[in-house]
Amino acid sequence: MIPLQIQSDHVLSFITKSEIESYQSAINRHFEEVIHKTGKGNDFLGWVDLPAQISNEIITDINHCAKEIAQKSDLFVVIGIGGSYLGARAVIEALKHHFDFLQEKSARKHPVIVYAGHQIGEDYMADLMEILDERDYSLAVISKSGTTTEPAIAFRLLKAHLEKKYGKAEADKRIIAITDKARGALKQLAVTKGYKTYEIPDDVGGRYSVLTPVGLLPIAVAGFDIAALVKGAREFREFCLANTDINSNPVSHYAAVRNALYRKGKTTEILVNYQPNLMFITEWWKQLYGESEGKENKGIFPAGVNFTSDLHSMGQYIQEGMRNIFETVISVGSQNRSVTIPEDPDNLDQLNFISGKSLHYVNQMAEMGTVLAHVDGGVPNIRISIPSLNEYYLGQLIYFFEMACAVSGYIIDVNPFDQPGVEAYKKNMFALLGKPGFEAEAEKLRKKL
Ligand code: PA5
Repeated sequence: MIPLQIQSDHVLSFITKSEIESYQSAINRHFEEVIHKTGKGNDFLGWVDLPAQISNEIITDINHCAKEIAQKSDLFVVIGIGGSYLGARAVIEALKHHFDFLQEKSARKHPVIVYAGHQIGEDYMADLMEILDERDYSLAVISKSGTTTEPAIAFRLLKAHLEKKYGKAEADKRIIAITDKARGALKQLAVTKGYKTYEIPDDVGGRYSVLTPVGLLPIAVAGFDIAALVKGAREFREFCLANTDINSNPVSHYAAVRNALYRKGKTTEILVNYQPNLMFITEWWKQLYGESEGKENKGIFPAGVNFTSDLHSMGQYIQEGMRNIFETVISVGSQNRSVTIPEDPDNLDQLNFISGKSLHYVNQMAEMGTVLAHVDGGVPNIRISIPSLNEYYLGQLIYFFEMACAVSGYIIDVNPFDQPGVEAYKKNMFALLGKPGFEAEAEKLRKKL
């Protein structure tokens, strides 16, 4: 039995078992389309076999590169956006010490990972460069197209910073480029400068690329076991490709339940976590599902909340707002560390009834209580559980969500591997910035403004 489990008893007052099972033949067909690469977007299905194909040589090479970076860097800047950023951050944030940036350098074995190029905030970049003035660092610039504006701007700034700080020759050794094997400005520059380079396979799109060097290098630099991450994904892959039965395969089950709910008007799915280190798993999931399904005026809107924090904000809406939502909880069985609530002789806070209990136990009761309250309030609940947070289980979770996303996308008959809608803002931004070739567009936009 695979450790990742799915439980959907708390949807059964909203949809029936037979409504869920009615998706079985479509799911069987869509699995075939994914496996045999015959469905929409079939030139971007390289991620399906990736966990089985990643060689020990590439893992060893990435680990070696990570070690070299760690030896000379206190910070490692990961430049990228969307799929070239979120997967690495999701895994790193899930596993790292929550306060790594405050730990003494001597207490840390690995560089602190910081991010750039995932937005264009000027204060953020100025603050980052100020910190980089004082610390030793290296950077990875990650862009499949090699032309995305946000990371390209960040790289231009940080390349200049790095060259000024260390001189051009040393700067070139501190830059790792992760990009397409042949195309794009970044590839050209990497060749000219002789940067250490990793390739992103042609048939793997950004949001499915966490198990390529895009995710693996930053995760390895942060000190995590990428072989275990890949192993988790590989074993989950074998399990989930062997039998597509809705009642035994969590991927089939999740795809069927969420689509049955969608058909009943539950158009927003809220991914719920109960610990802050899962926040970026939620961000990664939002991108994966949002960019994959949201097109042709279709798709479940992927939202996310962090409980119990957001029970004191979004909790109100979830309990009593519009009834077009359902929740999917990521439930983690046990914690890696332990904190017990102490007995207090004064008991002024009246909390002695939970003294001796772990914080995790309290969190679990919060989770159970919240699920029951939200179901009573009209919100169906799906629960995805893993035994604990480590590389192996995260590898399973990643592959689970990727496969379920592809199958779900096929159920609503969209291409889950393109993102044509993302171009609209880029065109306008280039026009407003005065990029050559966008003059006519700029004229039109100015009239609207
Ligand atoms: O999933 C995707 O394809 C996108 O989110 C891309 O990852 C994102 O736009 C960044 O693209 P690139 O890696 O080409 O810079």
